Amino acid sequence: MPEVIHSRETFQQVVLDSTEHIRYSYIWEDYSLLKKAVEVHSSHFEKALIIGGSGDNALSLLASPLEKLVIVDLNPAQMVLIRLKISAIARLSFEEFLELFGYMDSLNRRSLFQKVSGDLDAETKSYWQRNFHLVERGLCDQGRLEAYFKKFREQVLVHIIDRRKMNSLLTAQTIEEQYKIWSSLDLPRLLKESEKFFSQSALSHEGRDASQFQYVNESNVGKTQFYRLQKILGKQLIRENPYLHFFLTGRPLVGRASYPLLEKEGYLHIRNHLDSIELHCQELGSFLSETSDRFDFIALSDIFEYLSPEESEQLFESLVQKTENNGVLTYWSLFVERWPLAKKWIADKKLSATLTHEDRTWFYSQFHVLSKAES
Ligand SMILES: C[S@@+](CC[C@H](N)C(=O)[O-])C[C@H]1O[C@@H](n2cnc3c(N)ncnc32)[C@H](O)[C@@H]1O
Repeated sequence: MPEVIHSRETFQQVVLDSTEHIRYSYIWEDYSLLKKAVEVHSSHFEKALIIGGSGDNALSLLASPLEKLVIVDLNPAQMVLIRLKISAIARLSFEEFLELFGYMDSLNRRSLFQKVSGDLDAETKSYWQRNFHLVERGLCDQGRLEAYFKKFREQVLVHIIDRRKMNSLLTAQTIEEQYKIWSSLDLPRLLKESEKFFSQSALSHEGRDASQFQYVNESNVGKTQFYRLQKILGKQLIRENPYLHFFLTGRPLVGRASYPLLEKEGYLHIRNHLDSIELHCQELGSFLSETSDRFDFIALSDIFEYLSPEESEQLFESLVQKTENNGVLTYWSLFVERWPLAKKWIADKKLSATLTHEDRTWFYSQFHVLSKAES
C-alpha cells in the first residue's frame, strides 16, 4: 500500500481539526479528455504526474499499466480521501466500493469501512473515525463543492424544474427534445438565482474559497456559468453525460460513459496496478524541486487559476525540467488564462480546441494540451 509523503506540520494542522472538510469528493474534470490527449500524442506513457483532488481521474489513469503514478495534492483532506479509495479498491468488490462511497445506497457502510480500515495509516484512519458521518452519508457528494451543488438543487432547482420536467430532461433522447424542455423553464429566474448562488462572493464563503478568485477578473461569475451550462445542454444529452447527471441529481451515471474507476472492468484493472502509486501531500512546485523523476504525462487540473502570471511561468519552467522530451502537459482554465511564454512548451492548439469542444463538463473556458519540445 503506498505511503503518503507529506509535510507533517501541515497535515496535522488540518487533519487534526475535525471540522476540516473535503473540498472535492467527485471529479469535475472530464477524464476522457486526458485519455484522448495521451492517445493522440503517444500510444503509451510510463510515468504520470497528476493533481489529486478527489482521486478519481488520478486512479482512473491506472486502468492502463504505468510504471509510476505520482499523485500530488497540497490539501491533506484530499489525501485522506484518496488513501481511503486506494484501500477500498484493494479490499472491496466493485459493488461494495460503490456502496462505501455513496454511488449506491447502502446500510452497510460501517462494516465496509471496517473491512478497509485495517490497511489505513494511523492518521488517515483517525480522520475517518472522527468524520465517520461523511462516510455514513455517502462520500461522493460530501465535498465542499458537492455540498454547495446539493444546496443549489434543494433551494433553487426544485422550485424551477419540477419532478416531471426534471425526469423529461434526464431521459430526453435528442438534443432538440432536451433543449425544448430547457427552454420551457423559467430561465430568467434561473439566471437570476444562478447569478446570486454562484457569485464570486457567495462561492468564496461556500463551495469554493476566496483564494481561488484572487486572479479572476470576471464581473459576473454566476452569469458566465449559467450560459456555459445552457451551451452544453444544446450540444450534449444529459442521459449520456455523467457530469451533467451528477450536477442535476447528486447521483452518478454509473457504468455509462463514465470513467474507469466507476466501471467494473476499469476498477479491476486499477486494482492490479495500485503498487505503482506514490502519494505526495505537498505543493506542486515544492514537489518538483525535490523529485528526481521525469514524467511523460502530466495533468494539472486548473491549478494555474490560483497563480500569478509570474508564479505560473516559474511553474511551467520547473515542469519542463521534469518532463521527458515530447512528454504531454494538460490543464484546464476556468476564468483565468495562463500559458507558458517560454518556447520549451509547444501548444497543440488544434487538439486543445477539439477537446475543449468535446468537454463533458461545462465550467471551463479551455482545455490545454502541450508537449515538451525536444532538447
Ligand atoms: C485545482 S482543484 C480543482 C478545482 C476545481 N476545478 C475548481 O476550480 O473548483 C484540485 C486540487 O488541486 C489542489 N491544488 C491546488 N493547487 C495546488 C498546488 N499548487 N499544488 C498541489 N495541489 C494543488 C487542491 O488542493 C485540490 O484538491
